Amino acid sequence: MNKQLTDHVVISGARGFVGKNLKKFLAKNNIHTIPISRQNFKNSKFPSLKKASHFIHLAGVGSESVDQDSFVKVNVELTKTVISLCKKNNIKNIFYFSGLGVSKNSRSSYFISKFNAEQLIKKSGLRYTIFRPSYILGSDDYLTKNISKQILKKQILIPGSGKFLLQPISIDDVCKCITVGLHSSKFSNKIIDLVGPRKITFQKLVTKSVSSKIKIKKINLESAYKSALNDISFAYGVEDLNILVGNYVGNHKKLQNLCNFKFQKIESLNA
Ligand SMILES: NC(=O)c1ccc[n+]([C@@H]2O[C@H](COP(=O)([O-])OP(=O)(O)OC[C@H]3O[C@@H](n4cnc5c(N)ncnc54)[C@H](OP(=O)(O)O)[C@@H]3O)[C@@H](O)[C@H]2O)c1
Repeated sequence: MNKQLTDHVVISGARGFVGKNLKKFLAKNNIHTIPISRQNFKNSKFPSLKKASHFIHLAGVGSESVDQDSFVKVNVELTKTVISLCKKNNIKNIFYFSGLGVSKNSRSSYFISKFNAEQLIKKSGLRYTIFRPSYILGSDDYLTKNISKQILKKQILIPGSGKFLLQPISIDDVCKCITVGLHSSKFSNKIIDLVGPRKITFQKLVTKSVSSKIKIKKINLESAYKSALNDISFAYGVEDLNILVGNYVGNHKKLQNLCNFKFQKIESLNA
């Protein structure tokens, strides 16, 4: 029997969008998961991790507000805790979800926090895989939920030209990629863009996803940033705009070569 199938995989952020879907997918593939919750981190009380072979670190935040924990507190500090949990429990492999576009030249607080977390992982001495995902899409992902919310108001805002590129990947393909990584060392000590085969502009993705009855309204970027900075109910946060305008695309070919299965081409949302 393949040894990995008897091993246990720890997942932080297990109640989030990726975590929920991944837990289900791994269970179907007979891989046992140990979820780590926000409460576990808060109380520093964790379930037994002795049987675990891999730690998939998904806990993270993509926006900040006065009511929320900061990028540093969550994206950086929790990563330190996760690395020390791995070392204490002899878990040798860590998978981390960073973000597409993260680099040493990053200037946004979100990207800087993800970059610093990546650095901690690279220097940890653990066998690591750092994934840099574009938008991960499923039925209840962040972007789909945002657009669905705007649909209820019968109007979708497109910041700026809307011509910035995205390279969405389906949640099913993300789960398959992780499973490949759990069963081989192909991903070891690599940074991998988690991107789909199709590059598409934000405007096109939105237009293809909604009925013609919904008004699509362009809003100039300066006004969008002004609202994002001061209005908590605005459709986009500052980091949402940064990620959209950043025009971030990645290397799908590298992922395809490592995974060796056919990825879904995403051209619309399930909004
Ligand atoms: N989904 C995407 O398209 C995408 C794209 C690029 C990068 N990523 C990265 O991939 C990872 C997973 O994404 P996701 O879409 O599943 O995110 P998500 O749905 O927002 O889930 C994030 C998870 O992090 C946990 N968390 C947040 N703040 C925490 C805190 N202070 N202490 C402990 N746990 C905390 C949440 O716990 P609770 O459930 O208790 O709230 C939740 O389970 C994230 O790191 C994200 O930055 C995602």
